[in-house]
Amino acid sequence: MAAGETHRIVARSGRPRTTALSRLRNGRAIGPASRAAQRSRWGLDREIEGAVWSDPHILVLDPGLAFGTGDHPSTRLCLQWLDRTIGGGETVLDYGCGSGILAIAALKLGARRAVGVDIDPDAVAAARANARRNGVEGQFLDGLAPLAFTADVVVANILANPLKLLAPLLASRIRRDGRLALSGILPDQASEIEKCYAPWIEFAPCTESEGWACLSGVRL
Ligand SMILES: C[S@@+](CC[C@H](N)C(=O)[O-])C[C@H]1O[C@@H](n2cnc3c(N)ncnc32)[C@H](O)[C@@H]1O
Repeated sequence: MAAGETHRIVARSGRPRTTALSRLRNGRAIGPASRAAQRSRWGLDREIEGAVWSDPHILVLDPGLAFGTGDHPSTRLCLQWLDRTIGGGETVLDYGCGSGILAIAALKLGARRAVGVDIDPDAVAAARANARRNGVEGQFLDGLAPLAFTADVVVANILANPLKLLAPLLASRIRRDGRLALSGILPDQASEIEKCYAPWIEFAPCTESEGWACLSGVRL
């Protein structure tokens, strides 16, 4: 993995499968015949399936029509933040879950419960299927329905404008002293977003990657 990256993503679509597999094997080549013989019910080689179950930093994703292959810098910033934030036993809300990547990552890192929300029904369906692929039990809900879930950790990788509008809702879904991360924003949008959340959140310095920013903080 590149420096600073925390997760390996095995993409079942959207990225050539052989690339993902060879990355997982650290460059060890496996011939097509042997690969076919090892194929499991998940469509993964047995060696990979074993790694998927046992390694919290390997995720298998088929985003389908949803966003969330793990390739986008804003997603990677959120994965890095989750890796630093999830210690075990937390409840997590992944708002704008797309493929479910962040909720699934949180569960694999030890979160007790994760709820993903998205306004796109294709995303909710993809996230449910991806949770099954990774052997975790996330709950994925329609973003237009009322949300009665307060979490220790809230992550939202959407875009600046929706994040501004969602400030009162997201703040109300974090328990006191809980953690929030916001991404999908450009570095020059960060201070405006901080202002919208300032009544509820004390922010740490922003992290950035490849022209994207991630704001994180603690619920006051
Ligand atoms: C950039 S994608 C992020 C997907 C995934 N969480 C990730 O980090 O890769 C943003 C997702 O937010 C969803 N979304 C946009 N506005 C939303 C809203 N107001 N409420 C819930 N979901 C929203 C979109 O449908 C999309 O799936």
